[in-house]
Amino acid sequence: MKRKTVGELAGMKGRRKIAMVTAYDYTTAVLCERAGIDAMLVGDSAGMVVMGHENTVPVTVDHMCLFTESVARARREALVVSDMPFMSYQADASQAVSNAGRLVRAGADAVKLEGAACGAVSAISGVGIPVMGHLGVLPQTAHLGGGYSARGTDPESARALAEEAVALQEAGAFAIVLEVVGREAAAAVTRAVRIPTVGIGSGPDCDGQVLVLHDMLGMYDRIRPRFAKRYAELGAEVSGAVGRYADEVRSGQFPSREHWTEGHG
Ligand code: KIV
Repeated sequence: MKRKTVGELAGMKGRRKIAMVTAYDYTTAVLCERAGIDAMLVGDSAGMVVMGHENTVPVTVDHMCLFTESVARARREALVVSDMPFMSYQADASQAVSNAGRLVRAGADAVKLEGAACGAVSAISGVGIPVMGHLGVLPQTAHLGGGYSARGTDPESARALAEEAVALQEAGAFAIVLEVVGREAAAAVTRAVRIPTVGIGSGPDCDGQVLVLHDMLGMYDRIRPRFAKRYAELGAEVSGAVGRYADEVRSGQFPSREHWTEGHG
């Protein structure tokens, strides 16, 4: 068993695709490890799919540390990347560095932050903490006017995206998530940088793909992005199983003889 390094992940560019998925807790992280995933993203999407908020804004560094610790306890080979939540890196560089340090202490191998925040990327990577960038749709500010529509769908915005990606690379990012970027723009960004791009809803030409675990397992129905292929319908499975259990408790069918121990005192 050998833990993947950021360098190994970066070295996959052009050789083989990177498979990344979100994870927020020990049990599902164990299952993702068993599946041989390359990297687990402790995404601030936890605010929505785990905590039930409408967006990721209420997520704090304390929350992310708890999720990161839980995932890191399960980690064997996969790289663990933790999201820096809203306003944990934007205000000033020293705050960004100390918050990134908290996530590393909690078990992260690297942190991810949204937008062309090159000052924060340079400060954090400057102290030796690997940083993943995130361009395209930016969930932390999408509801504040940034919007959820595809990015890079015209030549000018595609060029701007490629420039931002190069700037993130020069600031020290080791990889970049591209969220809902038009296929051609994502391909152009991928060609423009030496570091890998990891797409979500950005087409097949990225160097890897990431999906939100609860989306791909069919466990989260509040939004159903077109790009989130469902590999299982665990939501229906779980509700069905819990319903059967409740029926059996009510009817006295559970527990049956093999589920208890005789004895007293
Ligand atoms: O928080 C998250 O899950 C993410 C992915 C959408 C890439 O940032």
